[in-house]
Amino acid sequence: MATYHVTTFGCQMNEHDSERMKGMLESLGYEEAPARPDADLILFNTCSIREKADERFIAHLQEARAIKRRRADVVVGVGGCWAQSVKDEVFRQFPFVDVAFGPGQVHKLAEFLTSDSITAQGFFEFEGFTGHLPEKRTREFQAWLQISVGCNCVCAYCIVPSTRGREVSRPAGELVAEVERMAADGVREVTLLGQNVNSYGRDLPRDERVTFAQLLARVDAVEGIERIRYTSPHPKDIREDVARAHAELAAVCEHVHLPLQSGSSPILRAMRRTYDRDRYLGKVALIREHVPDCALTTDVIVGFPGETEDDFRQTLDVVDQVGFDGAFTFLYSPRRGTEAAELPGQVPHEVKVERLQRLVDVVQERARERAQRFVGRRLDVLVEGPSRTDAARLRGRTRHNKVVNFTGLAAPGEIVPVQIAAATSQTLSGEESLVARAAAA
Ligand code: 5AD
Ligand code: SF4
Repeated sequence: MATYHVTTFGCQMNEHDSERMKGMLESLGYEEAPARPDADLILFNTCSIREKADERFIAHLQEARAIKRRRADVVVGVGGCWAQSVKDEVFRQFPFVDVAFGPGQVHKLAEFLTSDSITAQGFFEFEGFTGHLPEKRTREFQAWLQISVGCNCVCAYCIVPSTRGREVSRPAGELVAEVERMAADGVREVTLLGQNVNSYGRDLPRDERVTFAQLLARVDAVEGIERIRYTSPHPKDIREDVARAHAELAAVCEHVHLPLQSGSSPILRAMRRTYDRDRYLGKVALIREHVPDCALTTDVIVGFPGETEDDFRQTLDVVDQVGFDGAFTFLYSPRRGTEAAELPGQVPHEVKVERLQRLVDVVQERARERAQRFVGRRLDVLVEGPSRTDAARLRGRTRHNKVVNFTGLAAPGEIVPVQIAAATSQTLSGEESLVARAAAA
């Protein structure tokens, strides 16, 4: 039997797309190879969001070339955002690549593999949702739901609108049917995915139009779905209905990832984020008004062109004021074809690095403080498997999306009460409450 190996870079949408690639390959009769050198088909699902992502991927691609030198019949495929951003150039730069495709063309991989074609081929027009392909889930109890693709925002730093195109939503009825199938299959947690999830539905025909908050309610109503998450929303589209959904719908988790990017209004304007510092803080207040204990996480970019020390202090100040439960922090990285790459006032690398360090210190200090509110509480944890640091313990997540390492007897996929004993900025630790478990049984 022919075998494949997929390496995934980038965001959750890419993880989702890779699960669909795997599902599609298995329906063609391929089997997953344990390691790259054993595979007949070596695939990369790439990311282009920052320069580092490009560099990491190219090192892996060189390894594939070495394998192909030893076994000439190996097929090398490159999909995803990096492939989309360079298109056919990929074959000039890397002549050993056999097939390349963008995020909207994953299904063409099947066409390529089942044709007799021996020449390299590239596919880059958006044609279909990967969500329509068969899936192969990493964990049987957790699933991704691709609600839309593409993005209509024009954030000055971001390459995604050019790699994933204009926003297209999938009809709500189709999504609900998919979630019903998932639930029947044992899925307990779904994560709704889109580049900008909360603008979902605006492109649908008027008579089929469903808002993001309405979609949350329809997914919440599916029997068996106990946790709903989504990523990523845009702060501009967080309205009262979404905040209320977190408060009123039992399965919607108490966590919002709300990308800040910068705390300085002039920088936010230059980034074309369409909100300023006060409006962002207003959205945080709105969420906390409805769900006081809601976990908030964010993304922050340091060193956007023109960012002064004063702008950066505004960012530190917002991060300190909000008190995020966690944050992804990035050095600004100029991307080809984006507006910001051409802006004057590019910030020197050393300045970016120094700012990042200061930012990380504030993020961690606040996250550590925030996490203390969980100590002494008994929280429901969805068990994911053994702890990464100590195989004798278990690892799972709370509804607030906090990772918990704990001792207990539960099996992956179970939701069990855990008594929280300690908290760091990143993780909680505790013990499964066997008394509560016995009482529930
Ligand atoms: N440079 C640095 N970070 C970026 N991001 C997006 N584009 C860039 C860039 N050019 C970050 C944003 C986004 C996250 C997924 O990646 O913070 O929210
Ligand atoms: Fe990377 Fe963005 Fe593409 Fe996701 S959508 S793979 S983060 S470039």
